[in-house]
Amino acid sequence: MQARPDRASTPLLAVEDLHVSYGGVPALYGLSFEVHAGEVVALVGANGAGKSTTLRAISGLIPPDSGSIRLDDRQLNRMPPHAIAALGIAHVPEGRRIFSRLSVLQNLLLGSYARTARSTEQQTLEEVLTLFPRLRERLHQPAGTLSGGEQQMLAIGRGLMLRPRLLMLDEPSLGLAPLIVEGIFDVVRTLSASGMTILLIEQNVQETLMLAHRAYVLQVGQIVATGAGVDLLQSDLVRRAYLGL
Ligand SMILES: Nc1ncnc2c1ncn2[C@@H]1O[C@H](COP(=O)(O)OP(=O)(O)O)[C@@H](O)[C@H]1O
Ligand SMILES: [Mg+2]
Repeated sequence: MQARPDRASTPLLAVEDLHVSYGGVPALYGLSFEVHAGEVVALVGANGAGKSTTLRAISGLIPPDSGSIRLDDRQLNRMPPHAIAALGIAHVPEGRRIFSRLSVLQNLLLGSYARTARSTEQQTLEEVLTLFPRLRERLHQPAGTLSGGEQQMLAIGRGLMLRPRLLMLDEPSLGLAPLIVEGIFDVVRTLSASGMTILLIEQNVQETLMLAHRAYVLQVGQIVATGAGVDLLQSDLVRRAYLGL
């Protein structure tokens, strides 16, 4: 039986009443949610609901208008992205954003630039290459020569090089063939089993809710439902809006 996170403890990540806008146009209207250590928490919602914006605000890429984002008890608002990464938040963005002319190895090492990660770099690299044997075979190849699935693995591997306390994955399976998508979900399950805390965004709602300990459903910048992944899977809202049932 799997141990459940202790609900009474301080969450690892706590987002409270977060408001974010782009050029005065609101994208998030008072978002609140939390992630406890060891959990996989999913954010699900239609295109444009504000999922990526949420991750960008957490990693410091866009400044919130108001609200708070805390890692343990530390306020992250207004901290620059490199400082937030150094605290242990890895953001694997939508669309992978790998450097196609750099080698696989160079891309991975970009993930461990934080001083805290550098001391364990060789060991972490070994772990990442064990998780992704395809990357080991292609270590000195330009990243642009990898397949889509391999590029996604590289993007996740680069995030792991930080030895993150929280790994945020934005649509890791987007645009990949079904068999490769399965491989990505396997990786998420393996990381979760090893105790990694994961904030996951996925369009693949059914499989995501089966995997996630808890999930939040976003609609137009607000959370409209939350619960255990398997419970949400049974809810009318999710069945109608996301599973087409
Ligand atoms: N760079 C941007 N500039 C202006 N508006 C944006 C930008 N990125 C996202 N938005 C808007 O913010 C809202 C939320 O977008 P996003 O967070 O990308 O949604 P999701 O990831 O759930 O598809 C949408 O209305 C989108 O059009
Ligand atoms: Mg998005």
